[in-house]
Parts: sequence; C-alpha cells; structure tokens
Amino acid sequence: MKGITVTERTLSIIKPDATKRNLTGQINAILEEGGLRIVAQKRIQLTLAQAMEFYSVHRERPFFGELCEFMTSGPVLVQVLEGEKAISRNREIMGATNPADADAGTIRNRFALSLTENSVHGSDAGDTAAVEIGFFFAGIELVG
Ligand code: CDP
Ligand code: MG
Repeated sequence: MKGITVTERTLSIIKPDATKRNLTGQINAILEEGGLRIVAQKRIQLTLAQAMEFYSVHRERPFFGELCEFMTSGPVLVQVLEGEKAISRNREIMGATNPADADAGTIRNRFALSLTENSVHGSDAGDTAAVEIGFFFAGIELVG
C-alpha cells in the first residue's frame, strides 16, 4: 500500500573467502550504502556440525559436502540487516548465486571467487530469515 513501509530483518553471512581477503569493511560499506542497517554482527568460526545444521535444507544436494567444508575453512561474519524490504533488498545487493550470472556492481559480481566461494549469504524469505537469525543471535543481541 502507498506510504506504508515494510521494515524487515534478514540474516547475512560474510563467508570465509571474503574474511580471508579482508573484505568485511568493503562489503559492509556496500550493504550500508544500499540502505541496510547492521543491527547485530559477530565474527565466528563455524564447526562442521553447525555448518551442516545451518545448510540442512541442502543436505541432499551434490554440493552439500563442499559447501560445509568451505563454510568451516575460516571465520565468518554473521550479521542481522534491517531495512525497507531488507530480505529482497539484500538479495539484490548480493547478486545471483553464481557470480558468472551476478549483475555488475553486486557483491558477488565484485568479489566472489566461484559458485561455492561466493562471498555472502542472505536469507531468501521471511520464514527462513526468522529461523536463520535465531540460529545465530539471541533477541537481546539485536540492538537496532
Ligand atoms: O546462497 P544462495 O541462496 O544464493 O544459494 P543457494 O542455492 O541457497 O545455495 C547455498 C550456497 O551453496 C551458495 O551460496 C553456494 O555457496 C553453494 N552452492 C554451490 O556450491 N553449488 C551450487 N550448485 C549451488 C550452491
Ligand atoms: Mg539460499
């Protein structure tokens, strides 16, 4: 409806290929310039069990093992982004899963190394965003 703003929260992860190359500041600047506010953020090292649970929706896919191995290959930055239509806005800013298909200027177009090592994760819908935020953050850690 006209004039009604839809503020959402979404889970973002800056993946190990990007933390290794010291790109967290550049990626955060792109997110902020894109209209998203980082309302929670922490740098952690995922265990294999945690990566497998987080990506459990993909457990039957052929890339599951490689994906979980990659996600545990170095630290990640997990973050909650807030803003107008934050879930779809973040997906736009990220670009397509395969960097070869990602629009110019998107994070994956600029920084991704491959289909697997594609620099960022973003929730894909409201229900998954809520589950993914709860996976990493307690309510009191979301400071607005
Ligand atoms: O991350 P996104 O939601 O764009 O894609 P996805 O289909 O949910 O896949 C999750 C992640 O698995 C991707 O971001 C890639 O890192 C990885 N992947 C892969 O390694 N090979 C594929 N064929 C598809 C995805
Ligand atoms: Mg996904």
